[in-house]
Amino acid sequence: MDKYAVVGNPINHSLSPRIHSLFAAETNQQLEYQALELDPDQFEHQVAELIEAGFKGINITVPFKEKAWAIADKLSPRASDAGAVNTLIFQDDGLIAGDNTDGIGLTRDMITNHHILIKHRKILVLGAGGAVRGILGPLLAQKPGLVTITNRTVAKADELVEQFRPGSIDNTEIQSCSYEDLGNEKFDLIINGTSAGLHNEVPPIPDELLGINSICYDMMYNIEKPTAFVQWALDRGALRQFDGLGMLVEQAAEAFFIWRGIRPDTQEVLATLRQN
Ligand code: ATR
Repeated sequence: MDKYAVVGNPINHSLSPRIHSLFAAETNQQLEYQALELDPDQFEHQVAELIEAGFKGINITVPFKEKAWAIADKLSPRASDAGAVNTLIFQDDGLIAGDNTDGIGLTRDMITNHHILIKHRKILVLGAGGAVRGILGPLLAQKPGLVTITNRTVAKADELVEQFRPGSIDNTEIQSCSYEDLGNEKFDLIINGTSAGLHNEVPPIPDELLGINSICYDMMYNIEKPTAFVQWALDRGALRQFDGLGMLVEQAAEAFFIWRGIRPDTQEVLATLRQN
């Protein structure tokens, strides 16, 4: 049976083995997918061992996405832009190919699953770490009208703007600012790409940014209760709010497609995960 895994540290709560098993069952693919905790000082060595053991590919999660980018022999354009890799393909010719399916996972969840309009819309992105870098390319490809990136450390938001502005389509404005300088302009869509939710916190965004038609999307998820950001949106009467479970399933589906050449139906898997 072909072997795959998700690697990270910590990894014990990963839903990826469950998601990929559901995909495999649904598409009649014979494969094994496990979660492996790797040692931050041994990443390259341990990946080499996985290749040696016959693994066909791995997904990569925190904190190894940049390291995975660095060991890839070749990168897809979206992985190259993201500076991070969440999917490695161990090719038969011995080369390691790196891809990043996070951004397409986000846009597919927003557009296909939730019918959120991105084109010409005003979007606020919270955070400027690796998670945000990973999704900006696919987000800008949807031609929003404005993307404002805000971060506690503004210099990191400035850097992302410098990197992504040249590739953004002509009519998309892309800018950075501090939380204090956000003012009271309303946004159509607010995407939380910070890790504040890990500590049950919400970034310091003024309530005024939320209009009656604003949609909030948290890249983090929690299947037991609303995430802190989803709760923030609920409390303030956002039009709609979503957590990142759909993004997780969609990025997994894209990785599955890269490895197996077959696209699983994500709706059933999402419904199963939400149920239990
Ligand atoms: P990741 O790879 O998950 O993006 P990261 O690169 O460490 O992780 O980035 C975490 C992001 O969450 C950063 O944008 C961070 O802001 P700073 O760059 O200013 O540190 C943001 N973040 C984390 N905790 C936060 C909080 N409590 N409020 C606001 N932003 C927070």
